[in-house]
Amino acid sequence: MSTPYDGTQPLLPEAETAGSVFDLSGRVALVTGATRGLGLAIASSYATAGAAVIVVSRRLPSCEQVAAGLRARSVRAGAFACHVGRWNEIERLVEAAYEEFGRIDVLVNNAGMSPRYERLSAVSEELWDKVFAVNLKGPFRLCALVGERMAAGDGGSIINISSTGAVRPTADIVPYSAAKAGVNAMTVGLADAFGPKVRVNAIMPGPFLTSIARNWDMDVLAARTETFALRRAGEAREIVGAALYLASDAASFTTGTLLTVDGGAQWSMPRVREARNE
Ligand SMILES: NC(=O)c1ccc[n+]([C@@H]2O[C@H](COP(=O)([O-])OP(=O)(O)OC[C@H]3O[C@@H](n4cnc5c(N)ncnc54)[C@H](OP(=O)(O)O)[C@@H]3O)[C@@H](O)[C@H]2O)c1
Repeated sequence: MSTPYDGTQPLLPEAETAGSVFDLSGRVALVTGATRGLGLAIASSYATAGAAVIVVSRRLPSCEQVAAGLRARSVRAGAFACHVGRWNEIERLVEAAYEEFGRIDVLVNNAGMSPRYERLSAVSEELWDKVFAVNLKGPFRLCALVGERMAAGDGGSIINISSTGAVRPTADIVPYSAAKAGVNAMTVGLADAFGPKVRVNAIMPGPFLTSIARNWDMDVLAARTETFALRRAGEAREIVGAALYLASDAASFTTGTLLTVDGGAQWSMPRVREARNE
């Protein structure tokens, strides 16, 4: 029970001013898919909050370019190539990251993909397996390896980037939606597994205008966003508030949560068929 407020104590303990609860100084954050889109925005925001950042994607030159940009702002940064759908590459990544940085305090499973297909019967076994490998199987392995080390050490925060597609699937993203629904279930299970020292949460973004959007039919998107409460898709920088919150002590009592950041998309009526005149 806390003591009743008598007007003399500070409203918050002195160290926890509004800004300092988001401070990540002294922490190490590993972000997959950090070379563009949401991952780049998240990695940059963690650097701004004081964290050292480990930049991961399939392409080492892209990772090195982002890491060099961070170092130019006096941020400690590392660059590692890893295909997150492949467990042997994930195991190498984890070993190399701990060897160079000694710790990981924040893990963001952000890398993901959603390939287009013509019709459901055209979804090949290879496509299905790839979608599950990159979006679910790899993130599970990374959580398992890093989460156990966090739990045995100083604790930490794991953030899985899911999608509103997990809870509002549409015909064009069935394998992806199924994999992201798995990410949601995995997040809740891992929060139980790694508590009390490690928090595990997911962010469910709605449509964001990242490079993924290059494949989208913009007329369909415009018709869809018209039904969103905020009437538009998101910009990558608009994921930062949720990612900083979940990574930091601001979320010290938040775990197993699926946080939606979607401009109201989850509650809109998906009028995709009407927009396509189907
Ligand atoms: N944008 C949206 O509308 C939206 C909506 C809901 C959920 N999401 C989720 O948000 C996350 C980020 O999406 P985004 O839109 O920012 O994507 P993006 O702009 O396409 O960026 C993807 C990032 O992931 C990396 N990547 C892709 N495949 C990889 C793999 N197999 N192994 C390692 N890295 C890989 C890419 O770098 P390389 O190509 O160099 O490997 C890049 O850094 C994904 O999980 C996505 O499902 C996005």
